[in-house]
Amino acid sequence: MVLCLYIAPCPVGAKEHLGAESVHCSPLPPVLGSPWQGLDRDLGHVGPPLLSPCAVPSCMGSLVPKCLGGLQEVAETPPSWLMGAGLAEMLLLRPIMRGPWGLQRTPRLAAVAWRSHPQVCTPSRTYGTWRAGDGSQRWKVMAVGALLGLGAGLAYGDHRRQASEAEPNAVAMPRAPYPVFTRQEVGRHRSLAERVWVTYGSEVFDITDFVELHPGGKSKILLAAGGALEPFWAMYAVHGQEHVLEILRGYKVGELSPEEPSQPAQGDPYSGDPPRHPALKVNSLKPFNAEPPAELLTENYLTPNQLFFKRNHLPVPAVDPARYRLEVEGPGGRVLVFSLPELKRWFPKHEVTVTLQCAGNRRSEMSRVRQVKGLEWGVAAISTARWGGVRLRDVLAHAGYTEEDEEAGERHVCFEGLDKDLSGVAYGASIPYRAAMGRGAEVLLAYEMNGEELPQDHGYPLRVVVPGVVGARNVKWLGRVSVSREESPSHWQQNDYKGFSPAVDWDTVDFATAPAIQELPVQSAITAPAPGATVPPRELTVKGYAWSGGGRGVVRVDVSLDGGRTWHVAELMGEEQRPGRAWAWRLWRLTAPVPPDRTELDIVCKAVDTSYNVQPDTVEPIWNLRGVLSNAWHHVRVTVAED
Ligand code: MTE
Repeated sequence: MVLCLYIAPCPVGAKEHLGAESVHCSPLPPVLGSPWQGLDRDLGHVGPPLLSPCAVPSCMGSLVPKCLGGLQEVAETPPSWLMGAGLAEMLLLRPIMRGPWGLQRTPRLAAVAWRSHPQVCTPSRTYGTWRAGDGSQRWKVMAVGALLGLGAGLAYGDHRRQASEAEPNAVAMPRAPYPVFTRQEVGRHRSLAERVWVTYGSEVFDITDFVELHPGGKSKILLAAGGALEPFWAMYAVHGQEHVLEILRGYKVGELSPEEPSQPAQGDPYSGDPPRHPALKVNSLKPFNAEPPAELLTENYLTPNQLFFKRNHLPVPAVDPARYRLEVEGPGGRVLVFSLPELKRWFPKHEVTVTLQCAGNRRSEMSRVRQVKGLEWGVAAISTARWGGVRLRDVLAHAGYTEEDEEAGERHVCFEGLDKDLSGVAYGASIPYRAAMGRGAEVLLAYEMNGEELPQDHGYPLRVVVPGVVGARNVKWLGRVSVSREESPSHWQQNDYKGFSPAVDWDTVDFATAPAIQELPVQSAITAPAPGATVPPRELTVKGYAWSGGGRGVVRVDVSLDGGRTWHVAELMGEEQRPGRAWAWRLWRLTAPVPPDRTELDIVCKAVDTSYNVQPDTVEPIWNLRGVLSNAWHHVRVTVAED
């Protein structure tokens, strides 16, 4: 007789296992077959493998024994080899098994390899009554457990390859059906307390354990709870990739009833996005995120609108200029409403040249050190324009706010865009009140960009331009302005665009503990020659940009052709910077002799700002899990050869 036991040293939810009606266990993957089978023999088992990955969604993939044919004794505590495996998994694997999206590649992913051979085991209630074996066996099995943990980890490190390899070799097992659910039943699982279920196609997934790991944030993934993923994936097209599907499959718990109508085809929420310049290097199409090629970026001091980097979190909203209104909440909650012509008529026009930089500019360099979550921006998520509009300060004063008032305590000016997610939540951000209302503040409600009407991608008809501050606070398609004691409640203010220590990972991060990024640190990068280019011997011209946040000017750019051993001072070009109001970049250029007898050059640049802040020399000490504030010395390696 085969006795099915379900025993899990589950770090997160043993109780839930015990409460489960049924669980899917699967045969062992060939990749882990031999150590498992050795253990089978130790336990006196003959026949199919004893051990199986836990496929219960609440378990972080702990390894569980199943179908313990021939085992006489039922012990009182989870066996030590399981503890060994669990420990090894937690200590060794969880920190290292993170994919490009920072997804937790715990043994859960092993279920991917096994997923095609589910069996149904009935969980026993004997979890709390396992008794340990004798000491020698315990040590033996602990060692095996640790090995198994490590083996499992290695397996997950390349789980996709293994999944594909495992399939053809796997022992053919009859595929037991998954439980079948109606959409109504799925709809009951809308919260962490009730567990979070979603559907994709005709499959049902319990993604509760993934909620905290979701790269886009917990609040976003919970929007899909209890329903279909399709409308959300149409909005955030980055999901439509095989590796995302593969991870999702690891959370499968059932099938949708065949009687359920299929999810209606989704209209494309991005169909109203404007056409874009073909030279842009696209980082993500939906939503649209793109940067110009580095060599074009510094061709002009003012970046042509078409080439200006574009950073959208949502579809570009279609705004009818005739119906457009800006709402400004005054003191006491009184709301003023302005049409665009009214804003233009009632407030003086102000123009200012401002560089915008995304917090993720140069993120790809951080990813080379250790993978971070986010779009892999190169050096060109930064651009400069001459912006025209009305001063926010004038509008807020008109609404009844006064200049910065120390007595009033800390306040924030909050902005809401007209671009909304599927639940109707708008993009939002805030800046400190003093940044908007301080004497001489130049925060704009801009309707012009380089002398043209604001382009659709850049916030038509009205956007905020906050000089010296991270791009994320420059809210486009501006719908509403308010003043609050609290920062904007927006996800992008609260749970994104913050910096952390290299010691912080996705298990330990607490966004509430870090301040929102506002002023950016000093930055510079090389835009020519391109990495990997061949340059002639004798003389070389290097070009790039340099900028610092908070109105700090650039006093110097140092360039090295030998990896930082010796330095040259570059020539600064572009508009002179006003003291304390250096809102725009300096372009720079250096023409210098190529060191003799070199076949390769490691060109480096670093900028110094008016506070004598200088860029850090390496990425490692500033690495952070979100890949923001990447401003280490920029290196470009080239080959030296005659044409
Ligand atoms: N405003 C709205 N409404 N929606 C957005 O997605 N993206 C922000 C900011 N303002 C965003 C927004 C981010 S992260 C950046 S870096 C800048 O816009 C980019 O501005 P750009 O696209 O004009 O270069």
